[in-house]
Amino acid sequence: MRVRNWLFERFHNAALSHGFEEYDAPVLETEELYTRKSGEEITQQLYNFEDKGGRKVALRPEMTPSLARMVMARSGALPLPIKWYSIPQCWRYERTQRGRGREHYQWNVDIWGSEGVEADAEIISVLVHFFRSVGLSSEDLVIRVSSRKVLEEVLGSLGVSGEVFSKTCIVIDKMDKLPADVIEAQLTDLGLSNEAISTIQKVLRITNLGDLEEALGESSEAFSELSSIFSLFESYGISDWTELDSSTVRGLAYYTGPVFEAYDRAGELRALCGGGRYDRLIGTLGGKDLPATGFGFGDMVVMELLQEKGLVPEIPHGAQDIVFGMGPELREAAMGVASSLRSRGRNVDLVLEDKRMKWVFKQAERVGAERLVMVMPEEWSNGIVKVKNLSTGEESEVPFEEL
Ligand code: HAM
Repeated sequence: MRVRNWLFERFHNAALSHGFEEYDAPVLETEELYTRKSGEEITQQLYNFEDKGGRKVALRPEMTPSLARMVMARSGALPLPIKWYSIPQCWRYERTQRGRGREHYQWNVDIWGSEGVEADAEIISVLVHFFRSVGLSSEDLVIRVSSRKVLEEVLGSLGVSGEVFSKTCIVIDKMDKLPADVIEAQLTDLGLSNEAISTIQKVLRITNLGDLEEALGESSEAFSELSSIFSLFESYGISDWTELDSSTVRGLAYYTGPVFEAYDRAGELRALCGGGRYDRLIGTLGGKDLPATGFGFGDMVVMELLQEKGLVPEIPHGAQDIVFGMGPELREAAMGVASSLRSRGRNVDLVLEDKRMKWVFKQAERVGAERLVMVMPEEWSNGIVKVKNLSTGEESEVPFEEL
C-alpha cells in the first residue's frame, strides 16, 4: 500500500497540475453498458452476473462507459470543457500474466467538449508530466501516436466504413500478438479484398509525417490532424517522448481520431497505457454526441518498468515518534504523552504492552521513527521525558510541555 499510495499520489498530482478534477463512479453497472458488437476482447472478459432482481450487471472492465453515461445524464448542465480524472479499480476476466491481472487500478484522464487536437496534446502532456515525476525519461519509453482517421481515409476510398471499419481496427490491434496469416484470414472474413489488405499493410508501416503525406495526399484530414498534434508536442517540449506510428490503432471500437499508446523502449512489456479521441461514444449509448479524448493507465505495467529501472523508492512507515512507558505504572502517562503529541500533528506509535527496551529500539528502527520518547519513573515524577534522536543517537531530557 505504501508503494501504491506513492504511485497514486503521482497520478493525482499530474492530473491536478493540468487543472483536472477528480470524479468517481459505481463499480457495478448494467451489463448493457459494455455489450458492443465489434468483437473487442473487453466485451468477452466481463465479470457479469444476474443480481437478486434479475438484472444483468457487470463489474466495470474500464471507466470510459461509466463516464460517458454520467456526462450524458448531465449534458447541458455541466460547463464545458469537462476535465476529469479518476483512479478506479477495474475487473477483466483475462489470462493473468506479467502486467495483466483480473483486477487492476486504472488512472483515467479525459477531456469532454473540446474537439481540437489541443485537447489531445494536453492529455499527452499530463502523461509525460507523470512519467517525469516518477523519474522515467524519454530514453525509457515512447508514446506512439497515430489517428484512426489514417485507416479510415485509406479504407474509405476502398469502400470500407462504419462497423466493418471498427472491426478492422480491432483485428489490426492484434497484429503483434497473432501470426500474419491469421490476421489476413480475419480481415478477409470481414469482407476486405486482397487490395484493401495490402494497402492496410503498407500504410501501417508509416512512421513519419512525410511518408504519411505522400500516402494520404496534402488535403488529408488525418495528415493535417497529426502534423498539428506533433507541432503542439514541440510547443509542450515533449517531442522526444512521442513518435508517429500508424500501426497504433487501439483495440476498442469507440475511438474516432488521434490514438496513442506508451511502451518501454526495450520492448519487453505490454503497453503502459492507451487512449485517444472518442467523439461518438455518447451517440452509441442513445444520447447526443459530445467530443471527448482521454487515456487509461494501469498500475501494473508501470510498476514492472519502475522496478526494472530501480525507481521504486523505499517508503518509510510514517510513524515519527515511538512513545514508551517504562513499566505498567507509567502506561497511562505514556498515553497522555502520545495523545498530546498526536494532537500537535505528530504521527505516534505508542507501545501498548510491557516490552523490553531492546524490543522498543528494534520497533523504532523497523518503523523508521525520528524520535523515541521514553516515560521513565524518576524523570516523569519531575514532569520530564527522555527523548532519543534516532538518527544522531543523541539523548536529552525534555520537560513534557516543551516536547
Ligand atoms: P485499454 O487499452 O483497454 O483502454 O486499457 C488501458 C490501460 O489499462 C492499459 O494500457 C493497461 O495499462 C491497463 N489495463 C487494462 N487491462 C488490464 C489488466 N487486465 N491488468 C492490468 N492492467 C490493465 C481503456 O480501458 C480505455 N477505456 C482507456 C480510455 C480512457 N480511453 C479514453 N479514455
